[in-house]
Amino acid sequence: MTLLITGARGRIGRGVITRLHDAGHTVRAASARPAEAAVPAGVETCALPLDRPERFSTALEGIRRIFLYPEPAGVHELVKAAEAAGVEHVVLLSSSSVLGPDAETDPLASHSHEVEHALAGSSLTCTFLRPDAFASNSLGWARPISRSLPVQLAYPDAHIAPIHPEDIADIAFEALTGDSLAGRSVTLTGPESLTFRTQLAVLSEAIGRAIPVERISREAAERQMAAFLPAPVVSSLLDLWSAARHGSAAVADTTETLLGRPARTYAQWASENTRAFTGS
Ligand SMILES: NC(=O)c1ccc[n+]([C@@H]2O[C@H](COP(=O)([O-])OP(=O)(O)OC[C@H]3O[C@@H](n4cnc5c(N)ncnc54)[C@H](OP(=O)(O)O)[C@@H]3O)[C@@H](O)[C@H]2O)c1
Repeated sequence: MTLLITGARGRIGRGVITRLHDAGHTVRAASARPAEAAVPAGVETCALPLDRPERFSTALEGIRRIFLYPEPAGVHELVKAAEAAGVEHVVLLSSSSVLGPDAETDPLASHSHEVEHALAGSSLTCTFLRPDAFASNSLGWARPISRSLPVQLAYPDAHIAPIHPEDIADIAFEALTGDSLAGRSVTLTGPESLTFRTQLAVLSEAIGRAIPVERISREAAERQMAAFLPAPVVSSLLDLWSAARHGSAAVADTTETLLGRPARTYAQWASENTRAFTGS
């Protein structure tokens, strides 16, 4: 059985490919730019931008299971092609944001919501993995920290429960290779609720020097974030963090329940990634 893993350049896609390959599975690694995908030697790659339906039937030849990144453009064609190709199970990297009240219109959630909806209306067996914020989002602080500048935040006391990306890859591997997650939707979080300020204290401990935190206005944060993200996404994120100042983030025990071991901590992620913040 060959498994198709999309998003081969992405952090979760890469982790899933490596796990499957190491366990002896036959993997087809799909990416918009397969030449840039760092896949293990011997893994077949294919060019598959998820918004190019004309590529689907070739990519799906002989495939029974898919790990899918959420791309709404072309998802209905993908569903039809997967049904026609005899795909049995699709594991979607969705998001906990789909659980919000306005998921259909919220720019943080709408792409995952649309893809879940298309898959749920198909004959395919699906698993929706709904992670909360990735611990690796902290890489967005690498620039100021590596230059010994303060990290500027509008809501430093917002709580999140950051999940280690390797835990998501472990759960995706479980979903793709067994049946325990077939037909299920699971919310995935890290093991503890931490404010951004506490995350920065943990990072500071890991790199062995102080990281100053500077509170800035929402307007100033909007201007900074607009350089990297579309305005509606910026606005939604700031709303989310503003609301998250008022209590701990929900912590799910799914990693422990599904894998029989504790979830990796943010401190572990920080200690594994110090180089990104120190340049050495
Ligand atoms: N970050 C979070 O906190 C969070 C939380 C919940 C859900 N999610 C979901 O998780 C998914 C992945 O999020 P992510 O932000 O961590 O991204 P990522 O996994 O690093 O990459 C996402 C995809 O973008 C494509 N890509 C385009 N240019 C790239 C480049 N220069 N380098 C690497 N990949 C590139 C890759 O697909 P190709 O190889 O096909 O080009 C890759 O799989 C998103 O769908 C998001 O909605 C994220």
